[in-house]
Amino acid sequence: MRATVIGLGYVGLVTATGLAEWGHQVTGVEASDSRLRSLRIGRLPFFEPGLAELVTANVRAGRLGFVPVDRADAIGEADVVITAVGTHDGNGGWQTATMQACLSQVVPQMADGAVLVVRSTLPPEYVRTLGEIANGLRREVGRPAIPVLLNPEFTQEGRAVSDFMEPDRIVMGVISDPDGRGQARLAELYEKALAPMLVMDGVDACLSKLGANLFLATKISFANELAHLCETFGADVVEVVRALSHDSRIGGKFLRAGVGFGGSCLPHQVAMTVHTAELAGLDVPVLRAVHQVNARQRALFVERLTQAVGGSLDGRRIALLGLTFKPDTDDLRDAPSLTIARSLLEAGATVVAYDPMLAAAERAASLVPGLVIADTALAALEGADAAGLVTEWREFADLDWPTARSVMRRPVVVDGRNALEPRELGAAGFTYIGFGRGLVPQVPPQTMRPSAATDGVAITASAASH
Ligand code: UGA
Repeated sequence: MRATVIGLGYVGLVTATGLAEWGHQVTGVEASDSRLRSLRIGRLPFFEPGLAELVTANVRAGRLGFVPVDRADAIGEADVVITAVGTHDGNGGWQTATMQACLSQVVPQMADGAVLVVRSTLPPEYVRTLGEIANGLRREVGRPAIPVLLNPEFTQEGRAVSDFMEPDRIVMGVISDPDGRGQARLAELYEKALAPMLVMDGVDACLSKLGANLFLATKISFANELAHLCETFGADVVEVVRALSHDSRIGGKFLRAGVGFGGSCLPHQVAMTVHTAELAGLDVPVLRAVHQVNARQRALFVERLTQAVGGSLDGRRIALLGLTFKPDTDDLRDAPSLTIARSLLEAGATVVAYDPMLAAAERAASLVPGLVIADTALAALEGADAAGLVTEWREFADLDWPTARSVMRRPVVVDGRNALEPRELGAAGFTYIGFGRGLVPQVPPQTMRPSAATDGVAITASAASH
């Protein structure tokens, strides 16, 4: 089948490549010249494990190609046109202007027998209008109506290839498909996927996508609340969740406590759902609490680092381990690290960060003035009064912590992802502070040494206590 995918961002590029891998003839259409140039020389605009190899293999096999937006043949010859343009305004809100412009340009040119599939995540109120928008555009140019379907994506950054190739489910939201042609085409597109195909109304499909992300966010905020209970009563949330995970009604995923969720999807979709629900006169107390707990976790991390260095960050040197919003990605969108770094700097700390994605780290430095980037974890830890782990890259669990201790000014780690082994850190001489891992330890005063700003000056009582 000939498929054209409009918009080669995260969702579009993964979709185009996955469909080509299944043997379809795929053309990717991209508006950004620089992105197009990169793709044409085999360079991906972002990091995603396994994707570059798959793009190269499919381009070489002649099943995948990339063209600019003015290539009308890419639209007119396709059996299925899939739109995957961005719908996030970059400021925490929805924007549908890009989708609207894309539809205006593409829909009139589509073949009469083609099917329009919308893959971007959109607000429900916009999805309700999609059928009329698309077929209104067809009427204007005197062409017959086309089927319009919503096919939400559930791919996670860092594991997008396997999420696409081996999905848990495929959701087919029917917006307008009077003779069933659209459903038949979409089923053919996905015939190699061994997953249940769930056919439903378009708005149901839209809310099934949003609902999944809202539930995942709720699980994370719940885990963070549980972590507070654990701290109060001296329990370890990691053990508690281990037991919960054996209950098939609950499952163990998305229950990692720590600095909370970031990225371009979960925070934005929770905030926007609260906002649009409130505009519609609906109270959504659970989602409001999910949002509040998440914001509190970032603040709590900063508070823990403050306590860890004796009550004031002023003049202290903090090492931040990890900047991307999660491991195996170079994405910094709404990364907790950025909020945290800004707060630490505002409080007078020197912040030296390291992330295995060095290019992402450099971008972080341009987003957070004053943030210093180190090119290894040990270099970031050198002379630090405390370390804060923000992203659970494997490299940090595997770090030689005894060596880390020898280069740090003070051996204190605040583990914002519960990714380290408290016993191992303890054995290496560290004070370990996690989230929900028993009673929060007090940092022993004897581990307080002069800070960078007070080098060579006797430690005052207030700097040495907490
Ligand atoms: C999320 C969904 O998981 C995907 O299914 C969805 O397709 C995608 O949004 C989207 O709407 O496009 P993603 O944003 O890639 O995917 O990230 P997640 O893996 O969901 O992680 C989100 C955040 O939650 C990360 O900051 C992660 O560190 C955090 N998290 C995750 C926790 O704090 N605790 C956990 O237990 C799990």
